[in-house]
Amino acid sequence: MPEKHIVLRNCGVINPEDLTSYTARGGFQALKKALSIGPEQIIKEIKESGLRGRGGAGFPCGLKWEFTRNTKEQSKYLICNADEGEVGTFKDHFILENDPFSLIEGIAIASYAIGVKKSYIYLRGEYHNLSGRLQNAINQAKENKFLTHVNIEIREGAGAYVCGEESALMDSIEGKRGEARFKPPFPTDKGLWQKPTVINNVETLMNIPQIILNGAAWFNQIGTERSKGTKVFSVSGDVACPGVYELILGSSLKELLINISQSDNIKVVQIGGATGRLVPGTAIDTPLSFESVLGAGSITVFNETRNIMDIVYHTMEFLAEESCGKCTPCREGTEVMKLIIDKFRCGNGTQHDMQLLTELSSAMSLASLCGLGQAAPNVITDSMQYFRDVYESLIPANLRGVKA
Ligand SMILES: Cc1cc2nc3c(=O)[nH]c(=O)nc-3n(C[C@H](O)[C@H](O)[C@H](O)COP(=O)(O)O)c2cc1C
Repeated sequence: MPEKHIVLRNCGVINPEDLTSYTARGGFQALKKALSIGPEQIIKEIKESGLRGRGGAGFPCGLKWEFTRNTKEQSKYLICNADEGEVGTFKDHFILENDPFSLIEGIAIASYAIGVKKSYIYLRGEYHNLSGRLQNAINQAKENKFLTHVNIEIREGAGAYVCGEESALMDSIEGKRGEARFKPPFPTDKGLWQKPTVINNVETLMNIPQIILNGAAWFNQIGTERSKGTKVFSVSGDVACPGVYELILGSSLKELLINISQSDNIKVVQIGGATGRLVPGTAIDTPLSFESVLGAGSITVFNETRNIMDIVYHTMEFLAEESCGKCTPCREGTEVMKLIIDKFRCGNGTQHDMQLLTELSSAMSLASLCGLGQAAPNVITDSMQYFRDVYESLIPANLRGVKA
């Protein structure tokens, strides 16, 4: 079976409002072990486990911790990224709602390992309903003396997609308008208030207690060569059983969509949200892994009744709306792409427009400041690759084959 619960092991089992139901299932034993083995050994375990970030970019977690731990600065920070703004993603909401204690334990271990005395949970503004539950988990952990080494504070966002991007997120915590920063310097060196900062996704931190308890070797034998452990997916769209599923990395799209969530007549699947990739229904055997395609784990299914140009247009409309506007390639590029796609939707495309889309895609990927603008063209390039015939059919007959 491709399903395996590491991250979701307590979801639906414990009472998320009551710490004693968490400790009854071994909760905070990992923290106890971590405090006994010390920071260097914790970082070694996390590095050897092969855990990579679950927020989209897949950066090796232990390495990030090590960079920040090794800086000479005394004050440093850890931020748990619970912004979850990616289109079609709702797995972090499910985790926070059902098992806030594992996250708090993961943050407590990470803070100790990195040498952080102050950590933040950056919570998506629309997830305000979860704030009380999270605060309750922090309070109970504090009362039971599990957080003597770190102070954890919740900061709520105000609804901007770009604030999930780590540098815009830090601007937002600092009280500024959330805009991407130039990199380098990277946050591990100069992050929140210019101090070394580790930013990790909710799901990444949820893996920490289990890795510490069971050891790096246990985690490392799950998954594929470069994708260790499991991934939690948010499945939605044209499926009979939408929901949150945790699968061993390397499982196929077919196992998730046909066997588990029971979809059929798939035209295209959007993996990783608005900045993610399109996979046509004909490539259903595609493995879900960092080597292949993954993103933050949102899987949106579109069946044969859906119009590909509508999918591309609405994705680009969203990205144009959410671009922070700081860099020109992203601010202008997403708007221009939206307008060109609209021409095709109305059956008024040209060969020249297709050429423009290709050139603009490459310019934006190369020149945009952050992942939003760099990955915004994915939906264009993928749809032009897999559905080129649709684009060509939307060029008026008398203009087909005309270059300019
Ligand atoms: C536009 C944009 C939005 C993002 N949104 C999120 C988000 O909501 N949650 C998240 O964890 N990472 C998000 N990321 C990725 C973060 O910048 C960062 O890579 C991640 O939080 C690092 O954590 P990890 O190493 O544990 O994956 C986003 C990136 C971009 C470019």
